[in-house]
Amino acid sequence: PTGLLGDQLGRPLRDLRISVTDRCNFRCSYCMPKEVFDKDHAYLPHADLLSFEEITRIARVFAAHGVRKIRLTGGEPLLRKNLEVLVAQLAALRTPEGEPLDLTLTTNGSLLARKARALREAGLQRVTVSLDGLDDVVFRRMNDVDFPVAEVLAGIDAAKAAGLGPIKVNMVVKRGTNEHEIIPMARHFRGTGIVLRFIEYMDVGATNGWRMDEVLPSAEVVRHIAQEWPLVPLEAAAPGETAQRWAYADGAGEVGVISSVTQAFCGDCNRARLSTEGKLYLCLFATQGHDLRALVRGGAADEELAGAIARIWEGRADRYSQLRGSLPADAGPGGRRVEMSYIGG
Ligand code: GTP
Ligand code: 5AD
Ligand code: SF4
Ligand code: SF4
Repeated sequence: PTGLLGDQLGRPLRDLRISVTDRCNFRCSYCMPKEVFDKDHAYLPHADLLSFEEITRIARVFAAHGVRKIRLTGGEPLLRKNLEVLVAQLAALRTPEGEPLDLTLTTNGSLLARKARALREAGLQRVTVSLDGLDDVVFRRMNDVDFPVAEVLAGIDAAKAAGLGPIKVNMVVKRGTNEHEIIPMARHFRGTGIVLRFIEYMDVGATNGWRMDEVLPSAEVVRHIAQEWPLVPLEAAAPGETAQRWAYADGAGEVGVISSVTQAFCGDCNRARLSTEGKLYLCLFATQGHDLRALVRGGAADEELAGAIARIWEGRADRYSQLRGSLPADAGPGGRRVEMSYIGG
């Protein structure tokens, strides 16, 4: 299978985000609120998860279709046993031009100190670590499992020492919860080579009780930071990028803002998402996925799989963030939105 795919809006398929587990050891209120994800919550049974071989096979077909970046997500991907085995398999994949893929992972950092070296040795190139503040009280409250900041920072250090990079740090900003952490976070990561990005709190999933008044628009984040340290806008590093990038005028590196709510970036969204159980989702806000596992376990040949993926992508018209304002509050068109812990960030 070759030839570039385009969806209904002419968008290519470039980025595959693979969720390897629907579990997490944190309970961030904006993602897996404790009241919903309690001890009775039913996670996927092991037999439903794609095996590493199944994931790699699907990823190989995506690579043949033009995917250049693979991001492992969750839940918390480092909770998946022997993840470095999967990393090694994915690191061996090549684009049709013979290039390795950009292989990265989004993690809450809690297990990174332990795993960074093995991941690097398996062929992982870089990591993005989520961290919502430097103040221990604020952070422990946001992860809601009393996890300390220091251990995440130790994970980031370990990633750096292992040679993973460039490292990015993602901070979800909730007005009234952690907006006071913006400047301390910026100060901490300025000049370190680590790229800090501020994410607008999103109405993803159906359980986080999202309210517009808890969204701090990125424009305000940029204004706050620029009052301390002047910023100059940077060009996007790649088409379809989620973040708008800003450089510190004094040369201390860059920061980014991801503004899904106030400035939708669906226009050139080239991201596909593969859920833990092998469903292909065309949007972070999708209500329904396309079952690739059934094809794989039903004995489909690679050509069939490639054809199915092509048809699915070519039918894609999703642009939820652009439509957000005109849709009913708690559902996408036709049902309950999937959770981010299931579909992957
Ligand atoms: P790199 O810049 O290559 O590291 O990748 P990225 O910008 O995709 O980074 P990352 O995966 O860390 O995404 C950052 C965050 O942006 C995610 O955790 C989500 O919160 C948000 N995000 C990523 N992709 C999308 C998307 O397609 N739509 C929306 N609305 N938000 C997204
Ligand atoms: N809004 C914005 N970002 C979110 N993330 C998870 N849930 C939300 C939400 N509701 C972020 C996490 C992490 C990445 C996986 O997605 O903080 O950085
Ligand atoms: Fe876990 Fe990440 Fe969701 Fe927080 S945002 S609950 S760390 S998956
Ligand atoms: Fe892509 Fe959907 Fe996010 Fe828009 S809302 S950028 S289409 S994932």
